[in-house]
Amino acid sequence: MLKTGNILQTLSFILLVILSLNRYAHASDNRQQELQHLLKHDCGSCHGMTLKGGLGPALLTDSLKDKPDELLFITIKEGRPGTPMPAWKKLLSDSDIKSIVKILREGLN
Ligand code: HEC
Repeated sequence: MLKTGNILQTLSFILLVILSLNRYAHASDNRQQELQHLLKHDCGSCHGMTLKGGLGPALLTDSLKDKPDELLFITIKEGRPGTPMPAWKKLLSDSDIKSIVKILREGLN
């Protein structure tokens, strides 16, 4: 038989899990927005605000369609030595870079 105390404890545990999942979802939504902002403003300073190209090549979905994810990932992470493309590994985690590749595939809105 469950005692009232146990039930309350279980319920508050469940509530805690739900609340923290909710917070996590919000946090990653915010990160997603920060990455979109970074793409427009930081990457955009070379690749163009709309990523149509500038000093760096266009990063539009269509321009990148023949390039594998791994190539884009490694280019963003390590940069391209001997070109102005900087390495972003000090500023962006692997999961940030994966999100950026995904945003590029889907197109910046
Ligand atoms: C200082 C200028 C500069 C900034 C800032 C910059 N890039 Fe680049 N990027 C370049 C240049 C130049 C190249 C082309 C390198 C080459 O000649 O291969 C390039 C290449 C790339 C490529 C490979 C494209 C292809 O067609 O192979 C990707 C992907 C890329 N950049 C993503 C990014 C992302 C994402 C950011 C922001 C996090 C960023 N870049 C910021 C200059 C920049």
